[in-house]
Amino acid sequence: MRNIKQLKNIKGKRALVRVDFNVPIKNGKVLDDFRIKQAIPSIKYLEKKGAKIILITHLGKDGSASLEPVIKHFFKISKCSKLQISFFENIRKFSGEEKNDLNFAKNLAKQGDFYVNEAFSVSHRAHASVVSLAKLLPSYAGFQFEKEIKNLSKVFKNPKHPFLFILGGAKFSTKMPLIKKYLKLADSVFIGGALANDFLKAKGYEIGKSLVDEIDFGIKNIIKNKKIILPEDVFVKDEIILDIGEKSVKTLENLIQKSKLILWNGPLGKYEDEEAKATKRIMNFLLKQKNKEIILGGGDLVSCIPKSVLESRNYKLAPNLFISTGGGATLDFLANGTLPGIKALK
Ligand code: 3PG
Repeated sequence: MRNIKQLKNIKGKRALVRVDFNVPIKNGKVLDDFRIKQAIPSIKYLEKKGAKIILITHLGKDGSASLEPVIKHFFKISKCSKLQISFFENIRKFSGEEKNDLNFAKNLAKQGDFYVNEAFSVSHRAHASVVSLAKLLPSYAGFQFEKEIKNLSKVFKNPKHPFLFILGGAKFSTKMPLIKKYLKLADSVFIGGALANDFLKAKGYEIGKSLVDEIDFGIKNIIKNKKIILPEDVFVKDEIILDIGEKSVKTLENLIQKSKLILWNGPLGKYEDEEAKATKRIMNFLLKQKNKEIILGGGDLVSCIPKSVLESRNYKLAPNLFISTGGGATLDFLANGTLPGIKALK
């Protein structure tokens, strides 16, 4: 895979740069710009080298959303030149995008001299601007894209031990391949979030009205695995398990202290609820750890990271911290070791 540092003489050349500025927006304002910020170094690099940059992104599922708030926010925080950088329309507006349509990609390719993928977080989708376009033009990986691969690979290529995998969130069915894989690679797998409900239910505990996955994905086959650590107590409100309990927080802190490598994906409870504090408590504890490799899966977890940490480029608190920009893409990469968008760059 080539990276953008290998590009030579690009002054005046047209760069088609796929970014993922699919960020939460409320009342016309960007609520979380982590993904946008992580793409800026690559864009600035190309700008400095004199390329004419066209940024391509999707926003929302169906392409109906206007990119205006994102464009405004991007130019405000990046201070990039509007003369040199423009945006393509919300790419999902075109039916050819999700179909990975070759003709659609060919028309896109006419607008550029080379292609850059700086959209790791959408590279699990075999869409036209991620896969076909990359094959039609000389293609390069952006800086963050490369960092994602390098850092996330640490957990399946010679991981340091003891290796703790903390897995939360919901949708047991989508996370089963991950659990199976990391039961082999990690020394302990702590299960939190709504995922834990499935395990607790399978063990015969009463879980009231708590969220569970309706489909049986063979939980009985892995439940006896000694590496799996389930919350020993939970915080309940109105018959719903909202979070892991006090004792479980302590157990997890002890595990963290003993580990050299920690991979965390998905919140431990309904962290948006004021009373469900475990995710933020564990996050604060984790960020104080100095001599550990810490890898955080993106998505919901990013919103539990204090802004001061997200904004200091060198993460003074936990020096070996990597925060992934991906949600689904990170899960797929961790499970399969590659993604359609990575393969297309090779
Ligand atoms: C994400 O938010 O995970 C990416 O932007 C991909 O979005 P999608 O799930 O709509 O494909």
